[in-house]
Amino acid sequence: DAAPAPAEPAAKPANDKLVVGFAQIGQESGWRDAETQSIQFYAGQNIDTIDLKFADAQQKQENQIKAIKSFIDMGVDVIGLAPVVETGWDAVFTEAKEAGIPIVLVDRKADVPEDLYATFIGSDFIKEGNDGADEMARLLDNKGKIVELEGTVGASAANDRKKGFDDQIAAKYPDIEILASQTGDFTRAKGKEVMESFLKTYGSEIQGVFAHNDDMMLGAIEAIKEAGLKPGVDIKTVSCDGVKGIFEAMAAGEANVTVECNPLLGPQFFETCAKLKAGETVEKWIKSEEGVYRAETAAEDLPNRVY
Ligand code: AHR
Repeated sequence: DAAPAPAEPAAKPANDKLVVGFAQIGQESGWRDAETQSIQFYAGQNIDTIDLKFADAQQKQENQIKAIKSFIDMGVDVIGLAPVVETGWDAVFTEAKEAGIPIVLVDRKADVPEDLYATFIGSDFIKEGNDGADEMARLLDNKGKIVELEGTVGASAANDRKKGFDDQIAAKYPDIEILASQTGDFTRAKGKEVMESFLKTYGSEIQGVFAHNDDMMLGAIEAIKEAGLKPGVDIKTVSCDGVKGIFEAMAAGEANVTVECNPLLGPQFFETCAKLKAGETVEKWIKSEEGVYRAETAAEDLPNRVY
């Protein structure tokens, strides 16, 4: 009798997709929602080739760490995250490295040795702070008293925007005084609350506000109006992000400038993950291209804004 035919080679595993875990910070701002949508939309459009495991850490580093550990247990190809704060990542990134899973930092940096992550995709927050200072100086003719609304304590977006802004003011604009600087945690509600307390303390002394994001500025604008002052006129505004809400405020004459920060990082993120899975090398910092937008052109810019 003829010998039985050799068995067919084992079928390829059902999941031959690029498997990516992403540990998102939370939903603190319109900007963050746009970033989440960009990532989820791209994965949804490429469902045949991408398997996205998405976790929302609700603003807590411990939840991001838990999510990363579970992605390691699942054996994903690449792990992405926007680190809520800069420090405290060494141990979990080392676990990922030992499991052979590259880490991609998206939007915010982590303060870890370079060999613990593959690349950082995002903005130059120091430059955003520098640009914010130059815009504030232009609005105030290089002289005046201002307040600063900081982002989440310990976040790279807050640390670097503050450094970029404060250093530029100190170096180039000696007649601009920062009266007070306090965290508003990147949220509209906190931005409003902190601006109310600044207005109580300093009243009409305040000539300008720099906010580390537009959402806090939108809250501050409400506080300024409730105090009977005109935002954008009595108190000049400069904030970061470029969300639609601030363009609407600029078009209405209630805000002056936004320094753009691009949240639409989904396509770049997955292209980078695919390269890493294929064993290709990628640049250590994949920088976003961004601009500065002023009230003067807001009405014509608004229809072109996608977030
Ligand atoms: O890390 C980017 C910052 O985080 C954005 O400016 C802000 O809106 C977000 O919450």
